[in-house]
Amino acid sequence: MHIPSLIERKREGHPLSSDEIHHLIAAFTSGDMPDYQMSALAMAIFFQGMSSEEISALTDAMLHSGRVLTWPTDAPPRVDKHSTGGIGDKTSLVLAPLLACDGLWIPMISGRGLGITGGTLDKLESIPGFTTQLPIDRVHQIMSSLGCVMIGQTADICPADKKLYALRDVTGTVPSIPLITASIMSKKLAEGLNRLVLDVKHGSGAFMKTREQAQALADSMVRVGHLLGVETTALLNPMDEPTGHSAGNALEVAECVACLQGHGPADLETIILDLATAVTTTPRAALAARLRDGTAWTRFQQMVEAQGGDPATLETLTTTTHPAPVIHELRADRTGTLTRMDAGILGQTVLELGAGRARATDPIDPAVGLDHIAKTGTQIQPGDLLLRIHARTPTAAQSAHHQLLPAITLE
Ligand code: URA
Repeated sequence: MHIPSLIERKREGHPLSSDEIHHLIAAFTSGDMPDYQMSALAMAIFFQGMSSEEISALTDAMLHSGRVLTWPTDAPPRVDKHSTGGIGDKTSLVLAPLLACDGLWIPMISGRGLGITGGTLDKLESIPGFTTQLPIDRVHQIMSSLGCVMIGQTADICPADKKLYALRDVTGTVPSIPLITASIMSKKLAEGLNRLVLDVKHGSGAFMKTREQAQALADSMVRVGHLLGVETTALLNPMDEPTGHSAGNALEVAECVACLQGHGPADLETIILDLATAVTTTPRAALAARLRDGTAWTRFQQMVEAQGGDPATLETLTTTTHPAPVIHELRADRTGTLTRMDAGILGQTVLELGAGRARATDPIDPAVGLDHIAKTGTQIQPGDLLLRIHARTPTAAQSAHHQLLPAITLE
């Protein structure tokens, strides 16, 4: 196949066949197709779009560019969820053990923080000893005994996506629905799933700023999931204020521990139960009961231990293991109803406090972030706590304080 002709065809808005797409991805993965040709193709896709059939072929080709997890034929159904990312979005840590208690298998491959949105792997790594890199035979052992494992993408899973994502990042081709769909779905389907639920966020703290954009991405991912034989559903959730009351790595794990012990924030528990009921027929009340009776909490502790973590640290993670040197309270100076707690600004502040990265190689500070974040709709009196800033230094806390003021509206 003549690659320049295929690029020209897409540039003119004509569809590529499944064989052509598989050929392009194979050539790109092996290095036979240079980055400049793939960049040109990505830009042509950005402007011309792709049909669902083309996106499925692209997803399938990327999915099979590396290892696809396989499971015994008599294994329970494999399910997972993917969130497009948000601020304080910590649902995976609770959902995986909860669904495992339901007899399902959750082979969760997660990512690191991206831009202002936090990453599941970064949160988990605030637990001393916890490893997200496990040999495949250990993954199988943990799945057989516990039904859930939470690991990172390895070099041999979807290598085409790894390469293409890096290229998109520097060629202005990230925000393309066909390319996002293939990127997300190829990584999730490499888990060997039967069912997938997508949590597509929209709002100031999300990748998709409007509900319409989120709906279009959700529709595209659901169509591709079905075309590739995986039961896929999508929920749309606003991300205008953070989920729960905390954002930051150890701080979010602490909030998940509270949720697993039955006293998590109401909005966090609602999203978790919405996602869980999308992939199991078990009644919502029965799932909620597992958050109250200690079953899901026990399973989470077992998973932490199986992945090398120390469960004894979980209840004191923010006070003993990762105490922030400075905790600064931001209090209201007047009366009003809290009508805005802007997730985008809070996310950017948490990132700059050190909980996220500016470059892929930057280290993460597990201790810093925000907690006690008040929820919109709350009646506020002068002196009431709006949030607490966990910072490395007094200067960082002060600068976060100033950055956060325009994020908060009292009316
Ligand atoms: N997350 C991904 O994994 N890929 C994208 O393209 C965008 C978000």
